[in-house]
Amino acid sequence: MTQTVQGFIKKTVAFSERGEYIKALDLEFMACSLLGIERSKLFSSSITLEKKDKTKFLSMIRRRNKGEPLAYILGTKGFWNLDIEVNNKVLVPRPETEIIVEDVLLNFNQKYLNVLDLGTGSGAIGLSLKKEKKEWNVYCSDLSEDALEVTQLNSLKHNLNIHLICCNWLNAFKPNSFDLLISNPPYVKEGDIRLHSDGLNFEPPNALISGITGMEHLFSIASFSKRHLKKRGYLYLEHSPDQAKELKLFLKELNFKNISEIFDLNGDKRAIKAQNS
Ligand SMILES: C[S@@+](CC[C@H](N)C(=O)[O-])C[C@H]1O[C@@H](n2cnc3c(N)ncnc32)[C@H](O)[C@@H]1O
Repeated sequence: MTQTVQGFIKKTVAFSERGEYIKALDLEFMACSLLGIERSKLFSSSITLEKKDKTKFLSMIRRRNKGEPLAYILGTKGFWNLDIEVNNKVLVPRPETEIIVEDVLLNFNQKYLNVLDLGTGSGAIGLSLKKEKKEWNVYCSDLSEDALEVTQLNSLKHNLNIHLICCNWLNAFKPNSFDLLISNPPYVKEGDIRLHSDGLNFEPPNALISGITGMEHLFSIASFSKRHLKKRGYLYLEHSPDQAKELKLFLKELNFKNISEIFDLNGDKRAIKAQNS
């Protein structure tokens, strides 16, 4: 018997057990992706589920119920002005990270800038900036070749011409190269309880974990960036709110100037920017 999508979604929500991840909205996104239709069309009574689609839908639901992030199941995630392709080799781009893109665009109007997105993953930061600022020279680097394949896929998908570099943080770059150096590095400490929540255990550990304090990568990037930023160039670092104070102190010790915090939509200190002296 054929079933409407609407009926299937209602029934699935009604029968989902307590503690399961599935939400009606997740199901709607899955259905749109599966059937290749817009959300506004979803509830038309003419949209029915063929048997083969139902089998695929059920498999998506099983994955979500095991806690896998919706973005991996759909294969995409909206970030700033782009639909970014993702898989389990890259971190799912987060809305918190968009505040960095926003701050950069608000504060830098120069026509030509050399910009590095360090630890680019899917390419979310670098590609969003390139999309908005076509003349900027954008470099996207990562230690993970698998992640860079995803960055490349996204650059081709959106027809954005960026430089891709595989290296350990800044070791492939010349001194004095960048006007802006932006990074959302791994900043969760080993064994942190948060690693067991919100689907984080499906994401690559190398994209999340930074040693026993969580600060190791932030400190390394801050130290190395002094040499690789141009004079008066800016460093942007995303971090967790509880790392804000220590990171600010560290940047002061490194003699960065004009240090300021950037707040996320929850009002938490989520990123910091600082100017090379
Ligand atoms: C938190 S993810 C950020 C991904 C992306 N920039 C974003 O905001 O969605 C951190 C990224 O840093 C990369 N990474 C980890 N260690 C690195 C290293 N030593 N050198 C370069 N990249 C590294 C990871 O592979 C991962 O893609």
